[in-house]
Amino acid sequence: SQSAAASASPGTADVAASPASTARTGGTGSTGSTTGAPGIGDPDFPGGGNGGYDVEHYDLKLSYDPASRNLAGSTTIRAKATQDLTSFDLDLHGLTVSRVTVDGTAAAFSRRDDELVVTPAGRIADGGKFAVTIGYSGVPRSLRSASLGEYGFIATPDGAFVTCEPDGAKTWFPSNDHPADKATYDFQITVPAGLTAIANGEMSGTPRTTAGKTTFVWREKHPMASYLATMTTGKFQVRTGTSAGGLPIYAAVADSFRGSLDTLIAQTGTITDYWSSVFGPYPFSSTGGVIDDHAVGYALENQTKPIYGGFSPEPAIIAHELAHQWFGNSLSVSRWRDLWLNEGFATYAEWLWAEHSGQGTADATFRRYYANEADPMWSYPPGVARADDLFNAAVYTRGAMALHALRREIGDQSFFPLIRQWTAAHRYGNVTTPEFLALAERVSGKNLTPLFDAWLFRPGRPAPVA
Ligand code: ARG
Ligand code: ZN
Repeated sequence: SQSAAASASPGTADVAASPASTARTGGTGSTGSTTGAPGIGDPDFPGGGNGGYDVEHYDLKLSYDPASRNLAGSTTIRAKATQDLTSFDLDLHGLTVSRVTVDGTAAAFSRRDDELVVTPAGRIADGGKFAVTIGYSGVPRSLRSASLGEYGFIATPDGAFVTCEPDGAKTWFPSNDHPADKATYDFQITVPAGLTAIANGEMSGTPRTTAGKTTFVWREKHPMASYLATMTTGKFQVRTGTSAGGLPIYAAVADSFRGSLDTLIAQTGTITDYWSSVFGPYPFSSTGGVIDDHAVGYALENQTKPIYGGFSPEPAIIAHELAHQWFGNSLSVSRWRDLWLNEGFATYAEWLWAEHSGQGTADATFRRYYANEADPMWSYPPGVARADDLFNAAVYTRGAMALHALRREIGDQSFFPLIRQWTAAHRYGNVTTPEFLALAERVSGKNLTPLFDAWLFRPGRPAPVA
């Protein structure tokens, strides 16, 4: 579902108003048009997501053949119109669409860049619920960017490595590909027998094999941003378990990482339980991790199952990806420029984990970074992540430093309750920086605009922290 309008609170002028402001206008929309907008309204990702409807659920039925690299099947989307619609868009990169139906009736469709434009036989009324089914197939093409490397659906010799942040879901299913519109997911994934298909949430039943193919059924029953969806496939060693706190754990590793399976499952359980005590109740129904042998060199916090791309993760990395289950996955950005709400928090979690495991305090880590006057992060204000350099180290490290500066300013007695109130108030929702500032001011009773400005919005190294 799409988040409620992200009202910008006064005080932080650098942050623009709500993304989907046009898309959320009822009736025929502010332009009087009944055409759903090709973008959800993120100022930095004009084609990202779409306007005019709000997805409630994705039902993906797909089969993948690693030998031919062909992906084939259907996606059914249940959605609710947020304006009268004579046509609407989905995001889809490449692939061949064979058929589109809306509520069971054939619909016209056309392709333009990464937009699939659907024109149903009849108008959909504002507020009306509808189901659109897209039949499609083809060889998925991954995306690449200078700062991000390769992402999306990436073919591997034995399967596929699927990591989609920020806008790579469209490489394998038609979607409203933007975190401002979260939805629940059902996956039915068929692969050659002997391979494992790993998606989000929990597996339903046991995988069934017929005629040399195995079908895996997974369900994510909590809202999820499209970039966190996965159908990672290949030869994996799988182990399941339960954390000390009682949470189911699913761990899978490529054969060459066989020796890391025990550590992965143990550390994943321990760290998920620990974060539940620091950040508030774990938001999902299971935890886990996947180590693929495809060496992209980064990790991604895929919901319930972070994936590590070709390396055996240090506890600090596991701590980072599991912290994202709260910051990024349960609480998702409404617009990509607020990415420090994900990466600053997850990086700060690494520092907290180091402190918890006796490897130096978060304060010492903060002071070590602060001492380096020449660090390039001082010229990148992390409160406005740049679309062409979203994952700059400033968004991570200076974002984490902003949190530590806040903690010093308001004290531990306000800081940790603030974090737990933040995760509770916006569980499964969408968030913006002005909302975090407003809550921090409410919890602490202090004016924090100068601190947020210095650490997040202005270039330059802020004044020292007491
Ligand atoms: N959110 C990920 C992390 O911090 C980084 C993802 C980078 N994305 C990419 N396409 N390289 O763990
Ligand atoms: Zn991260």
